Amino acid sequence: MAIERVVSGMRPTGGLHLGHYNGVLKNWVSLQHESECLFFVADWHALTTHYDDPQIIEQNVWDMVIDWLAAGIDPALATIFVQSKVPEHAELHTLLSMITPLGWLERVPTYKDQQEKLSSKDLSTYGFLGYPLLQSADILIYKATQVPVGEDQVPHIEFTREVARRFNHLYGKEPGFEERAEEAIKKLGSKRGQLYRELRNAYQEEGDEQALEAAQSLIEEQQNLSLGDKERLLGFLEGGGKMILLEPEYKLTPASKMVGLDGQKMSKSYNNTISLREAPEAIDKKIRTMPTDPARIRRNDPGDPKNCPVWQIHQVYSDEKTQEWVQNGCKGAEIGCIECKQPVIDSIQKELKPMQEKANFYLESPDLVKSVVAEGCEKARKLARDTMREVRESMGINFS
Ligand code: TRP
Ligand code: SF4
Repeated sequence: MAIERVVSGMRPTGGLHLGHYNGVLKNWVSLQHESECLFFVADWHALTTHYDDPQIIEQNVWDMVIDWLAAGIDPALATIFVQSKVPEHAELHTLLSMITPLGWLERVPTYKDQQEKLSSKDLSTYGFLGYPLLQSADILIYKATQVPVGEDQVPHIEFTREVARRFNHLYGKEPGFEERAEEAIKKLGSKRGQLYRELRNAYQEEGDEQALEAAQSLIEEQQNLSLGDKERLLGFLEGGGKMILLEPEYKLTPASKMVGLDGQKMSKSYNNTISLREAPEAIDKKIRTMPTDPARIRRNDPGDPKNCPVWQIHQVYSDEKTQEWVQNGCKGAEIGCIECKQPVIDSIQKELKPMQEKANFYLESPDLVKSVVAEGCEKARKLARDTMREVRESMGINFS
């Protein structure tokens, strides 16, 4: 199995809420145990829509990183960094912009959608049009194999794949490619070289995807092969030239079932959130005042959980037994709504307590947070620099 590298980013919207936690962070926390992970704060992306309000970005960056740490992203397992501190992203963005047809950007669905949705802002800017390309640079610069995102981001990953393909097509050719690939096969040694040829034939002649994957891992595992030779051999497998940029896969985050206090999706812009730093009393008050099934005017009016947003929270937080109690109690008018809400209040308070303790710890140690991020930036830059060296070389601008 090939080694996975996971890259994902989040715009710095400040402190996070339960929607982020259930929708994104829990997933990141589990990914960090399975794969190499890089998680970053997309502060430049924030500027594409908040260029007129930049003073809030800095505070939002730190608040968000603190909530990541509090939620269990572990700097010993995952690399945490800030986009603008790795300026190589911008360099790759510029270089990719040379080969990106304007039509591709204009056709990305979020472009028109967001312009309409955020109609109070003037988003007819170059930066906003380039949003998906900057995202491509974020991903391609680390040769990510997987990008965990929500459904709305899928077109951006597909766009990224097309950009990578176009780049490899334009710059993956080198003079004498076939001969150099043959030379590289020799460097594998006779046994592995033979295996490589067999797997390549199986893929090229019979379309055997498993053979392709086996050959890819064979190459990834070679320690004594230069990066250039690895890319030649990877490219040679599929027939083309050198594969410089890797086409990433998206990994859909299991859909977040987290509803907001009003029954709509939980979102800051709907003002219906419970933040990860919400005080226990505030959680209590917010859930107690949540609307319920309108049919339950009096306690002995039967209701139906499917018409009630509280039930949707039960589905995220309550065990089967409690859920059954809700179903029966609601339909049979045996429990009151306040009574029904109590287990939800308890579960959320219980879940957030250790996170809030951790967040407080980090809030009191800003230097620690900064050093975590500085270290992450350093690690990320190393990887980014390597890719940029190859990208410059293939584009003919590595001279001095
Ligand atoms: N556009 C993403 C969002 O709004 C944030 C983002 C920026 C991102 N760069 C990325 C996500 C790279 C994944 C990979 O959620
Ligand atoms: Fe909602 Fe529970 Fe009240 Fe039923 S009993 S309406 S599920 S809060």
